[in-house]
Amino acid sequence: MKSPEEVNTPYQFILWAEKCFDESDLFYGHGTDNAYDEAVYLILRGLGLSFELDDTELNQSLSKEAKDYLDALVRQRIEQCLPVAYILNEAWFCGLSFYVDERVLVPRSPIAELIGEKFSPWVNANEVKHILDVGTGSACIAIAMALAFEDATVDAVDISTDALAVADENSRRHGVSDRLRLIRSDLYENLDKQRYDIIIANPPYVDAEDMQNLPEEYQHEPRIGLEAGEDGLRLVRELLSQSRNHLNDEGILIVEVGNSQHALIEEFPQLPFMWLDFEHGGDGVFLLTAEQLEAL
Ligand SMILES: C[S@@+](CC[C@H](N)C(=O)[O-])C[C@H]1O[C@@H](n2cnc3c(N)ncnc32)[C@H](O)[C@@H]1O
Repeated sequence: MKSPEEVNTPYQFILWAEKCFDESDLFYGHGTDNAYDEAVYLILRGLGLSFELDDTELNQSLSKEAKDYLDALVRQRIEQCLPVAYILNEAWFCGLSFYVDERVLVPRSPIAELIGEKFSPWVNANEVKHILDVGTGSACIAIAMALAFEDATVDAVDISTDALAVADENSRRHGVSDRLRLIRSDLYENLDKQRYDIIIANPPYVDAEDMQNLPEEYQHEPRIGLEAGEDGLRLVRELLSQSRNHLNDEGILIVEVGNSQHALIEEFPQLPFMWLDFEHGGDGVFLLTAEQLEAL
């Protein structure tokens, strides 16, 4: 990789980084899906600039220190195949900035879109009082839910104490600690008798075959956030069998299962999974009502 000699402005750095990425064997799956967007993300946020800056800022000359720093960031992305979110300790979800490091998965769930729409038309937002996020990781979903449903309390569980430490940091950053309870729990094990209007889960769901073929970028993520047995359904199976007992009668369960969608449909033909559509990409997210879960 050549050093960026004639590269002086943020915009020139973006184009240079894009070219370096294109010439390298990188995988995009942590918030962007192409070299240009990845370069914009790394360079602008590396400089602490907003994504909505104007031409003057994009074309300003950078100091030698800033240029050396950006050079190092680009090298880190390429040489270590490290996701940008871990390089910058920052990921974006629902338009919110979250602290992340290798203790938590990089937030990227399409569930963000549902939160933006307050789960319309499946729930009446004014009636949502209790929400549960299972496998909360950085707490990106739990915090976005707390901010979208201002009158609700949110419980968020994770089996990983490391992840819960990151979740706690994000909860303070977004000022929701008074309505967000972080609980260490293996799924529902340590929960009390509270029933929820919405249970949301983005559990680990990668099957054994996919685990063996993960691009290097994903090897930096905690395995406990990805791995879910031979068919990817280890946790989803448990969620299906236990969730009814924690939902209100009008409640809903929303779970992301990604590629394990087909194995799931095959194993539970009696369940009328509603597979949700996303305008901005993503699939493998189902919704079931409390009533539909009775079929189990
Ligand atoms: C796919 S990550 C999702 C993180 C976050 N909700 C997000 O969307 O970015 C799954 C999370 O589930 C947690 N987890 C794994 N097994 C669990 C279990 N048995 N009970 C609770 N949480 C679990 C992992 O530690 C990880 O944080």
